[in-house]
Amino acid sequence: MKTQVSEEIKQRCEELKISDDAMVELMDLFLRELNKGLSKKDNPTADVKCFITYIKDLPNGEERGKFLALDLGGTNFRVLIVHLKGDKDFEMESKIYAVPQDLMVGGAEQLFDHIADCLANFMKDQNVYDERLSLGFTFSFPLQQLGLTKGLLVKWTKGFNVAGVTGEDVVKLLKDAIKRRGDIQIDICAILNDTTGTLMSCAWKNHNCRIGLIVGTGSNACYVEKIENIEMYEGLETNQMIINTEWGALGDNGSLEFIRTSYDRAIDEQSINRGKQIYEKMISGMYMGELVRLILLRFTKDGLLFNGMDSELLRKSQEFQTNYVSQIESDEIGNYKNCMEVIHKLGLSANFKDCANVRYICECVSTRSAHLVSAGIACLINKMNEQSVTIGVDGSVYRYHPKYHDLMVKRIRQFVRPEISFDLMLSEDGSGRGAALVAAVACREEGRISG
Ligand code: BGC
Repeated sequence: MKTQVSEEIKQRCEELKISDDAMVELMDLFLRELNKGLSKKDNPTADVKCFITYIKDLPNGEERGKFLALDLGGTNFRVLIVHLKGDKDFEMESKIYAVPQDLMVGGAEQLFDHIADCLANFMKDQNVYDERLSLGFTFSFPLQQLGLTKGLLVKWTKGFNVAGVTGEDVVKLLKDAIKRRGDIQIDICAILNDTTGTLMSCAWKNHNCRIGLIVGTGSNACYVEKIENIEMYEGLETNQMIINTEWGALGDNGSLEFIRTSYDRAIDEQSINRGKQIYEKMISGMYMGELVRLILLRFTKDGLLFNGMDSELLRKSQEFQTNYVSQIESDEIGNYKNCMEVIHKLGLSANFKDCANVRYICECVSTRSAHLVSAGIACLINKMNEQSVTIGVDGSVYRYHPKYHDLMVKRIRQFVRPEISFDLMLSEDGSGRGAALVAAVACREEGRISG
């Protein structure tokens, strides 16, 4: 039999629900912000900056060549080599390198020297140390791009805060580090966001793909916009362009107060980028476990859980990992195996009622995240107004949470115009293959072939 969730817990979790009215309000807000971001006059005061990516062509599956790719911005730093063989065929090798905590909050030279070092090591491993290869750099932070190979960091997000990079051209920082070593030959063909990589990677397989979404450590989306809607664009004539919305910053001007809770405020207070990335902090994996922990602690202190007895670990920030949420919600209904395990890991003792309550709290937090993302995606789909659109998605929360996909499909369907059809497609390694594809498309335009 399914153990019942306490009425009081249900009531106290009500504030985590995104009602239909709140969904509509959120979609209106996001649309206003998007339009501000795209407009010359309003962009300076927009929260959602709608950065121009300079990527106008989607891949056609025929791209060929050997490309290197770097992926910085999630939990891991990766170096990849991607061999595109045409006809949607490819081979890929990659290696994950740690970015030590002190490099994430250290100085620019140390970080970029480390990146160049890993790149050189990887090239040796792959026996391409002496080759001159093209490289796509997935750099998943807000970038003001001045071209495909020039991008100034606007601000750090997630766990990064490296001195001396904000306002600088990240491609130049990487080139300088490579030059300092003097041993490898690299053509940096493109710098891109992980959302863009995801979109490109899915578009390579599916021509309907027009939106790229990440729900991982951070959250963000990009989409294909008609050039006449992008007042900020001043380059060569073209029909369309991928726009990196950087939607994580929605709410930085206080506009999300109508749905924020005291737990969201606490998360923001203890973050390294206070007052920034408010929407992202309500959604993404970097914060989801911590949100659950704060709620569990509050409810325990109020005597609603674990007989009122907390533990040292429950009091310790970051101890409740975001993947616990997915594990707990993967238990079959009425069975609390994973839930018990997590509770024990945290040094707590629980009965079935506690388990039912803990699971319910996880569901409220993850469902809220899925609904917030759905509001953003539904808004983009309605704005683009195509008959049918595929959304390429990547990120650990979307990938590993057992219900996230279904929650999104249901909620998006409710708010997208009925005549539009859509589907969500899991991206196969957007940051790697996507970076190679952007580099390949860029090379195609310049009439160069790599590898
Ligand atoms: C960054 C975005 C990125 C997203 C997902 C956010 O914190 O600002 O550029 O796309 O995380 O990785």
